Amino acid sequence: ALVSPTIPVYFHVIRSSTSLSGGSVPQSQIDAQISVLNADYASTGLSFTLAGTDFTTNSTWFQRADDCSGQSYQTAMKKALRKGGANALNVYTVGFTRSTGDCSGLLGYSTFPSSYSGNPTDDGVVILYSSLPGGTAAPFDEGRTLTHEAGHWVGLYHTFQGGCSGSGDSVADTPAEADPAFGCPTGQDTCSSAGVDPIHNFMDYTDDSCMTEFTAGQATRLHGQMTSYRGVTF
Ligand code: ARG
Ligand code: ZN
Ligand code: CA
Repeated sequence: ALVSPTIPVYFHVIRSSTSLSGGSVPQSQIDAQISVLNADYASTGLSFTLAGTDFTTNSTWFQRADDCSGQSYQTAMKKALRKGGANALNVYTVGFTRSTGDCSGLLGYSTFPSSYSGNPTDDGVVILYSSLPGGTAAPFDEGRTLTHEAGHWVGLYHTFQGGCSGSGDSVADTPAEADPAFGCPTGQDTCSSAGVDPIHNFMDYTDDSCMTEFTAGQATRLHGQMTSYRGVTF
């Protein structure tokens, strides 16, 4: 049946203190973030509803990202906090404040649907708390970091995957792109193949205000991924 499936979203706020600068985001920003997700995914037939919010004060989890050399510091965090099944989007907001060895400067990262069955507790999205709508991470302060990371969580790759050649992002209607685009460059065209770079796509790296779309091909891909690996039917 052509019913819009609703994804339950569990928000896990990791903070170093109970102040906003310690990562204790207000419920109003979380609600605004859910609204951004619903607006951005409207064309894909996927919707999101907040299923729960919890707050954990833990400076180690707040500071750390998963290590660039392959170590995961956040296994314990996810094991302690993850809720729901394969169809539940678990979002962890953290600070990424540790400056050495942890890829600081991150906005976020995500697992893919195909890895759920092998490691269900690791499933989910980790984002910078100040990237929520109204946060302090300008020009990444309109909630598109979660839109982008949720894009990976539903099975989408970057639009610049594979550069100008190869299978790229496995979606036919996102023109090939040599590298990630930053800012909001007008008319950028880095590959000779048809189409200008898809800089307005949520799966590129441009500023939040520059990101406006998923394509029909991306919607088709995410339907397949969500049905195959997360049991979500459209
Ligand atoms: N660099 C991150 C990633 O690869 C997130 C990019 C988010 N971009 C944004 N405009 N908020 O997953
Ligand atoms: Zn990404
Ligand atoms: Ca081109």
